[in-house]
Amino acid sequence: MTNKELIEKLNKDKSLEKSQWVKLISSFSENDALFAKKLARKIADENFGKSVYIRGIVEFSNYCKNDCTYCGIRRSNKNCERYRLTKEEILECCDEGRKLGFMTFVLQSGEDKTYSTAALCDIVKSIKKKHPDCAVTLSLGEMEYADYKALFEAGADRYLLRHETASKAHYEKLHPEEMKFEKRMECLENLKQIGFQTGCGMMVGSPFQRAEDLAEDMLFISRFKPHMVGMGPFIPHKDTPFAAEKAGSVELTLFLISLLRIMLPKANIPATTALGTLHPLGRELGVQAGANVVMPNLSPTAVRKKYALYDNKICTGDESAQCINCLQSRLKNIGYEIKISRGDYENV
Ligand code: 5AD
Ligand code: FES
Repeated sequence: MTNKELIEKLNKDKSLEKSQWVKLISSFSENDALFAKKLARKIADENFGKSVYIRGIVEFSNYCKNDCTYCGIRRSNKNCERYRLTKEEILECCDEGRKLGFMTFVLQSGEDKTYSTAALCDIVKSIKKKHPDCAVTLSLGEMEYADYKALFEAGADRYLLRHETASKAHYEKLHPEEMKFEKRMECLENLKQIGFQTGCGMMVGSPFQRAEDLAEDMLFISRFKPHMVGMGPFIPHKDTPFAAEKAGSVELTLFLISLLRIMLPKANIPATTALGTLHPLGRELGVQAGANVVMPNLSPTAVRKKYALYDNKICTGDESAQCINCLQSRLKNIGYEIKISRGDYENV
């Protein structure tokens, strides 16, 4: 089958065989990418129109007990200046976000076990009490079933936990021995079973990644059927063992966004900050390739530079209000507008 036929097959069956994924990912042409993009955008327009959902990210702590080799806030990075926000500071970010039109708050942090589950539940409850019309998304890494359950019962609506790579051998090349692939996958199953709108995702072009690994990612995603998929290019961070590695490809990331949209018509797929970091119009291109979400930063400007997962991250010097205005005009330039809504996953 030609690549064009494979893309058509994906549209019809919502799945491909592993060998077909490998072929498509390793041999696509500019024309194939254009074909996928047109189809993906048509599907996105049918589901979301010319609207893009916004999620405000509050990066409330960059302490992390983990040591992922790619990540700038890994515990071994002694050059990372650590910070934690208090409950009051987190609530202030959400209040400001609400004024700016955000109706989803994403609380993200390193795996910082100084916030107890009870304390996190209290923060979630306080946000939901103040902003009952808004959704709370958590992105706090791996936890036990009971903790996830308690957070869901406290009112959290969604949870993002990128699987990072669906190939065990590749996972082990990106993570230290104590981080287990099986544990990550179990966490994702638990999140979904508890009732969260669940997001997984991977980096594109992470060190050692082959087309076969990305094929495993696409197979995993077609089986898991996440409500959200966060995918951006890998970007090296200067204080990690991967400092000298190459960044991922913008073209491949865009192509995979299109394939994800074709496979999961209703999924919430962000045009990521990493994509915007590697290309001046990365987020716009992401939306044009089939993404329907952007996730600007709502963290206090004073701490933004410290939440550096990778080098040269954009928007770290801007106020939240500036970012939202900037994004509004960027999206307007390509014929899209920000939609003020929770933007939940809509069940078919
Ligand atoms: N480049 C791109 N993305 C990264 N992440 C972590 N480090 C990097 C990097 N160097 C991503 C991971 C993580 C998410 C919060 O950020 O996929 O799950
Ligand atoms: Fe932050 Fe453009 S979105 S400055």
